[in-house]
Amino acid sequence: MIALRLHKSDAHLIRKVVIVRKIIIAGNWKLNKNIKEAVELVNDLKARCAGVTDVDIVVCPVFTALSKVAEALKGTNIGLGGQDLYWQDAGAFTGEVSAPLLKDAGCQYVIIGHSERRQFFGETNETVNNKIKAALAHGLIPIVCVGENLAERESGKTFAVVQDHVENSLKGFSAQETEKMIVAYEPVWAIGTGKTATPAQAQEVHSFIRKLLEKMHGQAVANAVRIQYGGSVKAENTRELLSQPDIDGALVGGASLKGDSFAGIVQGALAQ
Ligand code: 13P
Repeated sequence: MIALRLHKSDAHLIRKVVIVRKIIIAGNWKLNKNIKEAVELVNDLKARCAGVTDVDIVVCPVFTALSKVAEALKGTNIGLGGQDLYWQDAGAFTGEVSAPLLKDAGCQYVIIGHSERRQFFGETNETVNNKIKAALAHGLIPIVCVGENLAERESGKTFAVVQDHVENSLKGFSAQETEKMIVAYEPVWAIGTGKTATPAQAQEVHSFIRKLLEKMHGQAVANAVRIQYGGSVKAENTRELLSQPDIDGALVGGASLKGDSFAGIVQGALAQ
């Protein structure tokens, strides 16, 4: 069954256009798993997720494991992503990895602007913007992360922060370029805390993000862009989160590190 995401507000269009946004479940492994462990995990996932075509499945291991994981994933239904990149292709930039190198290692996706990079490594909307440009220039699909921290939520700044992240990180791209992106709403207070946003809390922000995209590029683009939720997603809450009209997938941290829990999330996505 293909998951169709239909919007009440689009009722007048439904007869003409069916809006299809394929659900995408991505595992952000963060700084975990050496090459051997990474290959073992994807071999397990290959078996558990064999035959799944209605949900896009992606894993994002550490850089050093990418090429071996790419080999293990060849010809399967599981995609590969990097967790970051630098915007220059090559040169005197010690310690960095570029879009062409991620492509060379076998990636189709790259996570950009994760809150941990914003928090610990000085990532800003401007650097995120440069990184998205580099990703698109080399045919990588950027998964662009946005989201407020606890203090911002508690002081009523959620929408202002998300608006700042979306408008400034995605600034200057054409409609065609924007359509290729994936946005991940990850409230920082829900990351690794076991404290998931309620489906209603997440939907409220996802719908806000879609309206921002509509303001920037019109309804067709807004309807095409997939918006993932991230923050303590697990098999048990996937179905309910994904039943929300504007939640098109999940970016999963902790629960992506084991075959059974990540495959459980994919199953939850298939069942919604
Ligand atoms: P957890 O699923 O561990 O909360 O992490 C979410 C995340 O940061 C994914 O990018």
